[in-house]
Amino acid sequence: MAKHINLTLKVWRQNGDKDRGKIETYEAKQISTDISFLEMLDMINEKLILESKEPIAFDNDCREGICGMCGAVVNGRAHGHQKGTTLCQLHMRHFSDGDVIVIEPWRSRAFKVIKDLVVDRSALDQIIQAGGYISVNTGSAPDANNIPVPMDTAEEAFDAAACVGCGACVASCPNASAMLFLGAKVSHFALLPQGQPEAKKRVKEMLAKMAELGFGNCTNEKECEAECPKEISISHIARLNREFIKSAIF
Ligand code: SF4
Ligand code: FES
Repeated sequence: MAKHINLTLKVWRQNGDKDRGKIETYEAKQISTDISFLEMLDMINEKLILESKEPIAFDNDCREGICGMCGAVVNGRAHGHQKGTTLCQLHMRHFSDGDVIVIEPWRSRAFKVIKDLVVDRSALDQIIQAGGYISVNTGSAPDANNIPVPMDTAEEAFDAAACVGCGACVASCPNASAMLFLGAKVSHFALLPQGQPEAKKRVKEMLAKMAELGFGNCTNEKECEAECPKEISISHIARLNREFIKSAIF
C-alpha cells in the first residue's frame, strides 16, 4: 500500500556561473514513497509553476539509470545515499517522514553551474574527444567475433564500459579528479585487442586533457568508487596508471 511522507527540501538555486547562488527551502507534502526522486522534483516544480515561480532546473533524460544525465548531491552524497544508484533510480521509500533533504549541484572547477542543479559536464566529452575512441578500421561484427578474447577479460572490459559518464566520481572526490571516469574509458580499450594500436596515444592525450581542464589528481580517497552508480572499481585507475607508465617506457 502506498505510503506518503512530508519532507523539507533545501535546494541550491543559482542563475548561471556568475550568480552567487543560495539555498531555498520548499515543503514537499504528501510525497508517495513509490515515486522516484526526480518525480518528487517534478511535483515540486508543478506547484512552483502554478504559483508563477521559477521551477528548479535539473538534468535528466532516460530516467532508467542508463544515460548518465541526471545527478545532484543529496545530503552530501552524489546521487544520494543508496549504493549503485543514479538519482533517477533513487526512490522516495529510502527517505523517512519529516526528513530534511539538502540538494546541491556537482561542484568542480571543470563543471560550471548553468542553472540550479544543472552543470556543464562537456569537459568529460572533451576528455573522450582527446582519445576515448578507436579510429582504426576494426571490421564488421563477424570480424570482431573472430578475435578470441578470454571470458574474464571480456567481462572486465564490459564492467569498465558500464560507465555512463555522469560525473558523480568527480563530484564526490575531494580533488575533483576525473580519474575513475578516465580509468574506466582507458581500461575498457586497454583490455581489448581492438584498443591496442592507439593505446599509447590514447592514455597520454586523455590524461593531458584531464589536467588541462582543471580536474585534480587521484590520491586514493576511494570516494569515487563509493559513489559511482555503476560501481566501477578503482582497479581501473590502477590499470590507467600502468597504461601510462607503459606508454612512457615502451
Ligand atoms: S566512473 Fe561512475 S561515477 Fe564516474 S562518470 Fe562513470 S559512471 Fe559516473
Ligand atoms: S536520467 Fe538517465 S541515468 Fe538518470
